[in-house]
Amino acid sequence: MTALKNDRFLRALLREPVDTTPVWMMRQAGRYLPEYRAMRAQAGDFLSLCKNNDFACEVTLQPLRRYDLDAAILFSDILTIPDALGLGLYFEAGEGPKFHKTIRTEHDVVNLPNFNAKSDLDYVMNAVTTIRSALGGQVPLIGFSGSPWTLATYMIEGGSSKDFRYTKNMMYAQPEVLHALLDRLAIAVIDYLNAQIEAGAQAVQIFDSWGGALAHREYIEFSLNYMQKIVAGLKREHEGRKVPVILFTKGGGQWLEPMIATGADAFGLDWTTPLNVARQTVNGRAAIQGNLDPATLYGTPASIAKATKAMLDDAYANGEKTGYIANLGHGITQWVDPANPKAFIDTVHEYSAKYF
Ligand code: CP3
Repeated sequence: MTALKNDRFLRALLREPVDTTPVWMMRQAGRYLPEYRAMRAQAGDFLSLCKNNDFACEVTLQPLRRYDLDAAILFSDILTIPDALGLGLYFEAGEGPKFHKTIRTEHDVVNLPNFNAKSDLDYVMNAVTTIRSALGGQVPLIGFSGSPWTLATYMIEGGSSKDFRYTKNMMYAQPEVLHALLDRLAIAVIDYLNAQIEAGAQAVQIFDSWGGALAHREYIEFSLNYMQKIVAGLKREHEGRKVPVILFTKGGGQWLEPMIATGADAFGLDWTTPLNVARQTVNGRAAIQGNLDPATLYGTPASIAKATKAMLDDAYANGEKTGYIANLGHGITQWVDPANPKAFIDTVHEYSAKYF
């Protein structure tokens, strides 16, 4: 394996010394880039991009050619697992993801087929291998999965949702059915992430995009406990290096204390949590990633640099010199001007140097 030329992302996740703050952007490969839209047109549609390893590799690398990013993230989707479980994933223009089948009853859960990541999602593992080799050690590659709770919401609702009506109905009326589904998903996610790690992913992130829609007790019972089970089941070392794990619960900044108890290395925060308070709370027990409002990128290079500096001042206010990774608080949107992320990324590297 080629030696890693830039490992500051992995070092910050493990709270080891760094030379400057590492930075990447959630959803950094995507529709805001004209070269991405051209590749998608060439592939035909989004899922064909994911399923062809040359296309998936190419779109993974696109943002790295434009910006000085410290990590690459596998180009895929969190909904590959439900698709492999036979739900039939498809995308309708402007409407987000949809499934032909939904999971609403105990019978539906019991009848889910067996899942084997290596054979059922071999296209994902092939993409990981192809991307790792194309990166040639430039930066580490992040693998990812959805959290069981977030995957369950899509499977039960049949797509995106604002109120999670069917999922919450199941949660309160038939909690044992939801637990059975979450348990199946946690086992599948462990298998999926371990297969990505074996194929070459050097860190993994669990996207709990909808954990923040839960009440406190339900978040612990239906989302966090299953992420804890995943963390406990992951391969934490590969190729002689630690493989850090990041949990990102959007809207989850108030749950840092129970999150730390999962044993994950790092926690992603959205922009609603004050970063200085979060760093003080965590107090060196884990790394923090985030949390610039993605809408900041609708501003000008000057306003983006100003907001980025304020974020960095918050990140280092408690005197800790590592354990922080700059990122957006959620994915970059399709409406961002591709000239703007450069102001964010370059400011992170240049301005943070004063803290080292
Ligand atoms: O970060 C990256 O660059 C890697 C790629 C990535 C995608 N999806 C590509 C994608 C990642 C990490 C994801 C994760 C994902 N997918 C999440 C969790 C992250 C989050 O945003 O909370 C979720 C909830 C999904 C499910 C999903 N996939 C949705 C809701 C959508 C529609 C998004 C929209 O804005 O319409 C997708 C499709 C999708 N996944 C696209 C991309 C680039 C857009 C598809 C297209 O090209 O039209």
